[in-house]
Amino acid sequence: MAIHHTELETPPGREPLPESERPKLETLRERLQPLKELPGSSIEALYAAQELFSYVPPEAMTLIAEELKIPESQVFGVVTFYTMFSLEPQAPNVLRVCRDLSCHLAGAPKLIGALEDALGVRHGHTSPDGQFTLKVVSCLGLCDMQPALLVNLDQHGPVMPDDVPDLLDGIRNGAG
Ligand code: FES
Repeated sequence: MAIHHTELETPPGREPLPESERPKLETLRERLQPLKELPGSSIEALYAAQELFSYVPPEAMTLIAEELKIPESQVFGVVTFYTMFSLEPQAPNVLRVCRDLSCHLAGAPKLIGALEDALGVRHGHTSPDGQFTLKVVSCLGLCDMQPALLVNLDQHGPVMPDDVPDLLDGIRNGAG
C-alpha cells in the first residue's frame, strides 16, 4: 500500500521528515506487518524505526500507532520512557554511559570525561566528525560490568578511561 503523506503529518514545531527519508516509511510499514498480531510489540516496532532512521521521527510514531492500532500518545510514551530511543537524529555510533550510583562509584564520571575529551564533544551531543553521539543515561542493567556503556546495542564493561582510545579505534574499524 502506498504511503499517503497527509496521513502522516508532522506535529507543529517539528521539522518534517525530509523527502529523501520518506521511502523508509514504506519499509517500516512492511516491517510492522508481522508485529500486528503480537501484543506489546510497540518496543520492537520502535527499534525497527530507529534502525531505519537513526531516531524515531514523528511520522514513524504515527505510522506505528496506525498499524498496531494503539493510541499515538502511547507510542510517544514508550519512546520517551526508554533511554534507548531518540527523538532527534543520531550519529551511526551512539555511546550510552551509565551514570547511576554503582557505575558512578566505579568511575563513570572519569569515563565520561575521557570520552568527552577523546571525541571533542560534551555528552548529549554528536562529535564534530558526525560519527559518535555521547549520552549519559540511567542504569543499563549492566551493573555487574560497572562502569558500563553501550555502543549501540553492544555491551561493554568495565570500561576505564585508559580503555577509551582502543574502544573508539575498534568502533571506527568496525569492531564496535
Ligand atoms: S548502575 Fe550502571 S548499569 Fe546499572
